[in-house]
This record gives sequence, C-alpha cells and structure tokens, in this order.
Amino acid sequence: MSMRFPDSLTTPRLLLRRLQRDDAPALCAYRSSPEVARYQSWETFGPDEAAELLDDQQDRDIGVPGTWFQVAIVETGTSQLIGDCGLHCLADEARQFEIGITLAPSRQGQRYATEALECLISYLFTDLSARRLFATTDALNDSAAALFRRLGFRQEAHHLELRAYKGGWTSELFFALLAREWGMRSQLDR
Ligand SMILES: CC(C)(COP(=O)(O)OP(=O)(O)OC[C@H]1O[C@@H](n2cnc3c(N)ncnc32)[C@H](O)[C@@H]1OP(=O)(O)O)[C@@H](O)C(=O)NCCC(=O)NCCS
Repeated sequence: MSMRFPDSLTTPRLLLRRLQRDDAPALCAYRSSPEVARYQSWETFGPDEAAELLDDQQDRDIGVPGTWFQVAIVETGTSQLIGDCGLHCLADEARQFEIGITLAPSRQGQRYATEALECLISYLFTDLSARRLFATTDALNDSAAALFRRLGFRQEAHHLELRAYKGGWTSELFFALLAREWGMRSQLDR
C-alpha cells in the first residue's frame, strides 16, 4: 500500500517529515562526516549527492514497491535537521520494509534514533500495514546493532565476509521485527 507521507509525525523531542530541497546544507554537513560515512554506502557526500537525493525524493510517496522513502528527522527545540531515516519498500513484497538511519554526530548518544524509529515503526505497522521490518548492519557497527536490539529486532543472521566494501570484506548482521512481535512488545510496555 503506498500513500502520501503525513505532513509531520511528532514525538516528544522530534518532528519527522519529508525531506525538502533546503535541507541540503544540513544533510551534507552530517553525511560528509567520516564517522557517519564509515559504515554507509557513500564515500563522500557533497552538494551534488544531496541534490540528487533531494530531487529523487520530491513528490515520492511512501510504500511504493522497489523504492526508498527518506524521512527527515528534525529536532523540535532547535528546528534543525539532525538526521534521516530511509524506508525501503521491497519490490516483490510490499508489506516488508528495510530500514536505515543516520544521525548527526552531535546528536548521537541521546536516544534520538530510538525515539524516531519507535514512531516510524508504529506508523509502518499501523498505517502501512507492514508485516515485517528488517535492517542490515556492518558487524563492526556496534551503535547500529545496539539500536535495533533496543527496539526489539531479532538478530536473524551473521554473514561473514559478505561483501567487498571500501577496500576490504565486510561481515553483516541481519535484524528483523514482525508486526506481531511489535504488538506483543507494545502490550508489555502498557
Ligand atoms: C546508528 C545510529 C543512528 C545510532 O545512534 P545512537 O545515538 O547510538 O542511538 P540513539 O539515538 O537511540 O541513542 C542511544 C544511545 O543514547 C544513550 N542513551 C541516553 N539515554 C538513554 C536511555 N534512557 N536509554 C537508552 N539509551 C540512552 C546511550 O548511550 C545509547 O547508546 P548505547 O548503545 O551506547 O547504550 C548512529 O550511530 C549513526 O548515525 N551512525 C552513522 C550512520 C550509520 O552507521 N547508520 C547505520 C545504518 S543501518
């Protein structure tokens, strides 16, 4: 099921919305940081890469099979773009989404990623009728693995030396979360 992403979703400290063209400077500032890029697909991220991403995202709906929808993470207190979250609707299974997330280094370690994803996971399971969410992380990316475990994702696999990546071989962890597992967790939290 595809749909227009809401004008905004809100959490206690964050506003989640579509990416806008004037997000380019902030997007470049944190995505070009070597510590942010270390386990990501890009080597460098400058104005050209930002323009390409933002052009691609304009007018895109969420949940279109075979596409990524990129959500802006804005800190409410400062109105600053502090990160983004990619939601990939699988081409052959539209009720499954892959999740990726990036936070500016200055905003890491404050539970912002957990807060943003708790909101987006509920949105995907409730409004988009998603059945299964998954994420892959570099096996050395401890913060990302801790994030998905904290959210209740199960580790499904540890693939050794899966891909040639940035001059070496990378091992990857696969995490997944089913709608019914999230529902059970929400009931426990009540
Ligand atoms: C992956 C990434 C988003 C995780 O960010 P993060 O800041 O570690 O995650 P959160 O915002 O949820 O913050 C959690 C941290 O807040 C801190 N924290 C503060 N209060 C907390 C609380 N009440 N409960 C839990 N953690 C708390 C902890 O230090 C915790 O980190 P820990 O794992 O060391 O315990 C971030 O490391 C990143 O952007 N990395 C670069 C991009 C990347 O590699 N993305 C992964 C692609 S899938």
